[in-house]
Amino acid sequence: MQSVDLPKKINSFRAYQDTYQRSVSDPEGFWAEQAETFHWHQKWDRVLDWDFSKPKVEWFGGGTLNITENCLDRHLESRGDQTAILYEPNEPGGEVINLTYRQLHAEVCKVGNALRSLGIGKGDRICFYMPMVPELAISVLACARIGAIHSVVFAGFSAQALADRVNDANCKIIVCSDYNRRGNKNIPVKEVVDDAIALGCPSVEIVLVHKNTGETVAWNDKLDVWYHHRVDEQPLTCAPEVMNAEDVLFILYTSGSTGKPKGVVHTCGGYMVYTAYSFLNVFQYEPGDVYWCTADIGWITGHSYILYGPLLCGATTLMFEGVPTYPDASRFWQVCAKHRVNQFYTAPTAIRALMARGNKFVEGHDLSDLKVIGSVGEPINEEAWEWYHEHVGKGKVPVVDTWWQTETGGMMISGLGGLSPQKPTFAGYPLPGIQMALVDKNTGEELMGNPESGLLCVKFPWPSILRTTWGDHERCRTTYFTTVAGMYFTGDGARRDADGMYRIVGRVDDVINVSGHRMGTAEVENAINEHEGVIESAVVGYPHEIKGQGIYAYVIVADNVAHDDALREEIIAMVRQEIGPIAKPDKIQFVSELPKTRSGKIMRRILRKVAAGEVDQLGDTSTLLNPEAVQEVIDGVV
Ligand code: PRX
Repeated sequence: MQSVDLPKKINSFRAYQDTYQRSVSDPEGFWAEQAETFHWHQKWDRVLDWDFSKPKVEWFGGGTLNITENCLDRHLESRGDQTAILYEPNEPGGEVINLTYRQLHAEVCKVGNALRSLGIGKGDRICFYMPMVPELAISVLACARIGAIHSVVFAGFSAQALADRVNDANCKIIVCSDYNRRGNKNIPVKEVVDDAIALGCPSVEIVLVHKNTGETVAWNDKLDVWYHHRVDEQPLTCAPEVMNAEDVLFILYTSGSTGKPKGVVHTCGGYMVYTAYSFLNVFQYEPGDVYWCTADIGWITGHSYILYGPLLCGATTLMFEGVPTYPDASRFWQVCAKHRVNQFYTAPTAIRALMARGNKFVEGHDLSDLKVIGSVGEPINEEAWEWYHEHVGKGKVPVVDTWWQTETGGMMISGLGGLSPQKPTFAGYPLPGIQMALVDKNTGEELMGNPESGLLCVKFPWPSILRTTWGDHERCRTTYFTTVAGMYFTGDGARRDADGMYRIVGRVDDVINVSGHRMGTAEVENAINEHEGVIESAVVGYPHEIKGQGIYAYVIVADNVAHDDALREEIIAMVRQEIGPIAKPDKIQFVSELPKTRSGKIMRRILRKVAAGEVDQLGDTSTLLNPEAVQEVIDGVV
């Protein structure tokens, strides 16, 4: 196999500007040049074929590859003994695991063989419901090795949410762990899978159970198979499935403004090229650096920037099992010092939570190896940005505020560590190849000047754009490609300043962002409405000091039900059951009616203002059907 040759790394802001120009004037030439650096079985015969109106996007059509050969095999010669995955467990004194590229390759091959021995092959869907253990990384890569499609479900989701996702993709197998220790909690992971199966998952033929803590679990001989029983004796090599560039690599469910979460689909070739290119450039990764992204592999950040991007670039990627506040709020900084972390990537919600605990937790830890610190998932407020820069970056380490989405596959707007000008709360400039646009929400016209504010859109395809939503292409079209004709609409609003730098304002649809997790208000409302005492509900986000946004629920309940805290607890329990703890409302206000327009639509704008404590800014309420409802809402605010 050809030796490793990485995409080109930009090394100055001037070079960024030149590269950007080139990427826009000749996108196909530009991306073909990046793609050349990977191992393809057969080279593509067309770089790009696209039509946003369908939508259809195909990159590197006719090309064939396996992404895991690019993550693993091609590094064996040059860095086989270098650590690929550096695993830091939940307990500070627990065993650190270093998996070299050679070991990771062997482990992935063993699991690939095990999956094949269970009858899993190209195109089959595998659901992963696992904590942050090395076996998660290994088996996700093994899935890609044999051409199966992974659907990783964050292990904090409820049995119902898991079953919904498993059934949407008709997964043939679920891979899970027995238990999971996270902070001081002991979480019965397999039990949730058992509950999901009991709710009905007819497509599931096997549950492959990884022994993590070793506690006893209920066992179903018809479905359950121990991971180690299947994996341990397997051969150390596994022929990779040769995939077309546009074959599906994975599905990842994410929330939208309507209905159930949708399965965002990413494909092999373009996703590979873009995650590697963006990783290398944003983090300015140098061989030998230790890189740490604190996300969970259950989210897109973990897919693209714990696993694929770093491994494609031959990086050492740190994987952390625990939480930022266990055993105390210095854990992140202890881990940075212990492993001499060079690039650190986390979310504003974690920064705010740690900032609130006081500076003493960050002081005294040697953070002198940090070269770039990153932020992702939600807008970072100025105070958090400054704290991060000053106390973690010691005033000199560049901060990259990376804006992107599950649908974009990789980082879209961000500084390039140390090269770009930085402004607190601004994500900055688009990456090469990313043609952003601001669009006037009333006219649908692109806003060309600076400064400007509008709907954040993308005009031209990039290699890791979503290709469809699983099982429902029309939903993909209407959600992303019809709001603004001829463009991909992100769902976000943004401002571009006089220098052309972007600042993300936040979602303009009914999606809220709670601790960096995307939540559809309709989804939470549906869960609340499952409670038999509830007649109707409306959920909005409100500013929350740590979480960014909190969940505020206005609930109408039946007359014969007591409007008390016991009912609030029951409603919260219902949401936990339907979705999981991340969706539980922070505040519940009982009301007798909701302000509605004459056409019967809930006036969420008013509810948002009331929840935010901005009752003096309600705006025009003259179109309301029931203006008296507004006063009741204001009077009862919690
Ligand atoms: O609103 C934006 C916000 O998170 C949304 C995407 O969420 P998700 O698909 O879960 O992916 C999160 C991790 C990539 C966006 O529509 N968002 C993400 N990053 C930023 C952000 N908002 C502001 N600044 C960011 N850096």
